[in-house]
Amino acid sequence: MHRKLVVGNWKMNGNLHQLGEIAAIAKAARKAAGVDVALCPPFTLIAPAVARSNGLAIGAQDVHAAEEGAHTGSVSAAMLKEAHARLVIVGHSERRAENHETDADVRAKADTALRHGLQAIVCVGESETDRAARDHVAVVTGQLKGSLPEDAHEGELVVAYEPIWAIGTGNVATPDDVAEMHAAIRAALVERFGERGGRIRILYGGSVKADNAAAIFAVEDVDGALVGGASLTAAQFVPIIQAAAG
Ligand code: 13P
Repeated sequence: MHRKLVVGNWKMNGNLHQLGEIAAIAKAARKAAGVDVALCPPFTLIAPAVARSNGLAIGAQDVHAAEEGAHTGSVSAAMLKEAHARLVIVGHSERRAENHETDADVRAKADTALRHGLQAIVCVGESETDRAARDHVAVVTGQLKGSLPEDAHEGELVVAYEPIWAIGTGNVATPDDVAEMHAAIRAALVERFGERGGRIRILYGGSVKADNAAAIFAVEDVDGALVGGASLTAAQFVPIIQAAAG
């Protein structure tokens, strides 16, 4: 059993008016003992969110692999550090799809994040077609092979399993589906990093809500959740944090 980590991914949602939600989430997170909580708003909200975070870890949803230079529209790890971000999500399926990010791109981003002292959440997950073809485990372990950084100790690296068909659809994976995949991811992490691989946290993501969170957290090798829609308000996110606290 690891201490659970619950991360909110606001995606392209959130403006200054919603900082009050972040303050309310931070307040509840402080009270919930035994669980780590983080929130990843859009880049524009990182610095103002940190100012309201009361110690809640604030992170980004992407980072460029390069240190600096001619990369219009991108943000570097040093910039994130300067804004006091503590973590970054890399390889989210929406970025893999919309921005054509490959496993190699994701690995380069994870390496850069870790080099700068940012915790990296590496996302993997199969499509509905992969699952229908019963290729889901092979697809995800293949993504891990290509996307994981060269080396990482367990505090820095987190893996998030997000089946694409469960994201934003309300179709949460069954506990059996989650158990099968998290066991496969755990085995891949141990094969890759040895004993340390046993301590890297594996999050589940995809339609996690207050009413299904406890069942997901009870599954073996589920060390927390990456939450999209239900992280946008304290009213929906706080019960998930509390479910992780046990
Ligand atoms: P939802 O919780 O909205 O399904 O999103 C999951 C996700 O993609 C988090 O990164």
